[in-house]
Formats: sequence, structure tokens, C-alpha cells
Amino acid sequence: MPHQKTILVTGGAGFVGSNFVLRWVREGGSAVNLDLQTIAGNPANLASLADHPRHLLIRGDICDAELVSHLLRKHRPIAIVHCAAETHVDRSILAPEEFIRTNIQGTFTLLDQAKAYWASLEESARGTFRFLHVSTDEVYGSLGTDQPAFSEISPYAPNSPYAASKAASDHLVRAYHHTYGLPTLTTHCSNNYGPFQFPEKLIPLMILHVLEGKSLPVYGDGLNIRDWLYVEDHCSAICAVLAHGRPGETYNIGNGSEHTNLAVVSAICDLLDELRPGKTIGSHKKLMQFVPDRPGHDRRYAIDTTKIQKELNWQPMIPFHEGLRRTVEWYLENSAWIENVRSGAYRDWICLNYGERAARK
Ligand code: NAD
Ligand code: DAU
Repeated sequence: MPHQKTILVTGGAGFVGSNFVLRWVREGGSAVNLDLQTIAGNPANLASLADHPRHLLIRGDICDAELVSHLLRKHRPIAIVHCAAETHVDRSILAPEEFIRTNIQGTFTLLDQAKAYWASLEESARGTFRFLHVSTDEVYGSLGTDQPAFSEISPYAPNSPYAASKAASDHLVRAYHHTYGLPTLTTHCSNNYGPFQFPEKLIPLMILHVLEGKSLPVYGDGLNIRDWLYVEDHCSAICAVLAHGRPGETYNIGNGSEHTNLAVVSAICDLLDELRPGKTIGSHKKLMQFVPDRPGHDRRYAIDTTKIQKELNWQPMIPFHEGLRRTVEWYLENSAWIENVRSGAYRDWICLNYGERAARK
């Protein structure tokens, strides 16, 4: 599929990746989409692109050097947008191996193959090629209530196996730029929410539990804080960094929208009280239940977005309460998608994670 704007996206059947691919193709670009379709990778996220001439979904592993090399030589992308990862902190605590393999070994494999491909390009194409690594604010660790938000020069202090694996991948990306000159870009984004998010993450999990009348498991005291960004805003930031970011630089992405988990779950209950009132009297909030905390649970994330705003003129467009309403409405309107993801494997995870918490209570 050689095309002026063909990019290789990894993990493009996952939550952020599929939203990004949908946007990229809608805006006229072509995407070769390499995704192993592990836990959250779901071709149904890309159903609207079925048979689209500018999208090619390939089920494959970023750790497969031969496959990556073949795809680069065959499709000659102008950039790689690297979203593939294992991404759920709770899973990384219970079973870290796959996080090390995909997030570290996989990123290394991609970088190494990208370096060889980039070196083979003509000079002008070499100058414009980009390797964009989609990373997370979790690499910076945890903030106290009064500490300033994470900036691009905050020290690394990852606390979970997931965060540590992403930190390791960030360092590899940095090294491939400094040592070999590969034109890399790294983004550190805060918590995303929106359509197609796998319902093991806080917001879709709580929406589904309310709809099923199940308890809403709030970890610890529920006062941990996250900065919530609507996924479309994350995708617009990735586009801005890809187009105008300076090679070798890192960019933090966030929304300045800090909320405790209790506030988020309450807001979901309020929306569902309005849109899908329960059969029994009273708010869905009565389903909230405090459960044992996540080990090593980071207290607060907050993002200083001065750099991306000033350098790339990027800013988020969707306020949290508007994005949350859109998200709740999307899950209400997409029951077939929900049924499709609620496989045996999903049920097994819910039993493992929350059953174990009930046992610890
Ligand atoms: P996700 O779990 O929904 O999607 C990850 C995708 O990677 C899945 O489609 C999965 O099948 C694929 N994948 C996993 N292992 C693979 C392998 N070995 N080879 C090829 N594909 C593989 O995750 P997400 O929320 O969409 O996150 C995407 C990226 O964005 C990740 O790198 C994550 O660290 C980063 N990020 C996410 C958020 C967020 O809140 N969701 C915030 C900041 C950064
Ligand atoms: O900050 C960016 C990160 O955000 C991304 O890098 C990760 O890939 C993404 O999963 C997300 O990590 P979190 O751990 O912050 O997201 P999660 O949805 O798992 O949890 C959000 C908060 O809600 C966190 O404080 C834990 C809490 N929580 C989560 C679940 C699943 C609960 O209280 N109950 C739950 O059942």
C-alpha cells in the first residue's frame, strides 16, 4: 500500500491506537496496522474501516523482527506510530512477564528494524521520517497533593511493573536517537477515556458494572487523582507531535482535569441515573464499594502541558464532563461491541482481580 502518507501504526486495534487510526484514515492518510490482538486489541474497533483501501490490519507481534522488517520494506511508511503495549497496571502486578516482553523487547525490536529501514532511505526521506513512541505519565511516578505537575524534565520514578516497562522503553527510544540519530519523538500522556476502551480500565468498567447492577469496586480510599483526557484529544496531540515535534524531544499531554476516583465514579453514576435510571429507588451510587487497594497505587498524576501548547500550539478541546457524557452514551449505544468483548477471558480477569480483592478484605 505505498502512499504518500502511509504510516505503520502498532497496537492500532487497541483503544488509543484504533481511535488514532480512524482519525488518520478519515483525514486522508493510509495506515498499516500491526497488532497482535492480545487483551484489548479488537478488530471490531476498526469495523468501520472494513475493506478500506487505505487501511491494512495485520495480526502480528512487534517482537517478530522479520515481520517488522518485511512490513517496513514492503509498505515504505513515512513514520511509525508505536502504540502497541500491554497497558493495564493491575495485570502488570499479577503477571508482569508479558509487559517486559512486549513493552521492552518489542520496542527494542521495532527501534532496531526502524533504524535499518531509516538508514536505507534516500536522504530527503531520511530527514522527514519519524518514530513516535506513545508513552505514559506513569513513568514519572506519583505526586503528593501540593507538588507541581509533571513536566518533561521531571525525574523518572516508575512504581508498577507496567510503568517500569514503559520507562525502559522510553530510555531505549532516547538511546536510539542519541546513539544512532534515529528521528524519534516521545509523548507522555495522562489517563485517556472514550469509545473502544476495554472495560477493565476504571471508566468503562464502572459503566458496565452499573448497567449490570454489580458493585462498583473503588480501590483504597478512592482519593487517588488522575488527569482525564478524552481520547480524541490524545489523538490530535499525537498528530501535532508527528507533524511538528522536534526529533529527540519528549512532549507531555494532559487536560488539566484532575479528579479523584470517587468523583469520577460519582459522575458516572449521576449520568446513568439520568440516562438509564435503575429499577430500584435511589442513585446508582449505592453500588459503590471500597475494596483493598492496588499495591503501590500511585496517589496523583498531573501534567504540565506548557511545552506542547507553546511549541506546537496544541490544546485539548473536550472538557471532562462533556467527554464523560459522550463516553457513557457511546457504551449505551454499543451493546453489541460490549457483548463481543465480554468473552470468557474477560470474565476470568474480573474473577481473578476482584475475587482476590474480596478475599483480602
Ligand atoms: P490497549 O491495551 O487498549 O491497546 C494496546 C494494543 O497493543 C492492543 O491492541 C494489543 O493487542 C496490542 N499489542 C499488545 N502486545 C502486542 C505485541 N506484542 N505486538 C503487537 N501488538 C500488541 O492500550 P491503550 O490504552 O490503547 O494504550 C496504547 C498506548 O498508549 C500504550 O503504549 C500506552 O502505554 C499508551 N498510553 C495509554 C493511555 C491510556 O490512558 N489509555 C495513557 C497514556 C499512554
Ligand atoms: O496515566 C496513564 C495511564 O492511565 C496509562 O499509561 C495506562 O495504560 C492506563 O491503564 C491508565 O492507568 P491507571 O492505572 O491510572 O488506569 P486504571 O483505569 O486502571 O485506574 C484508574 C484509577 O482508578 C486508578 O487510581 C485505580 C482506580 N481503580 C481502577 C480500577 C480498574 C479503581 O478504583 N477500581 C478499579 O476497579
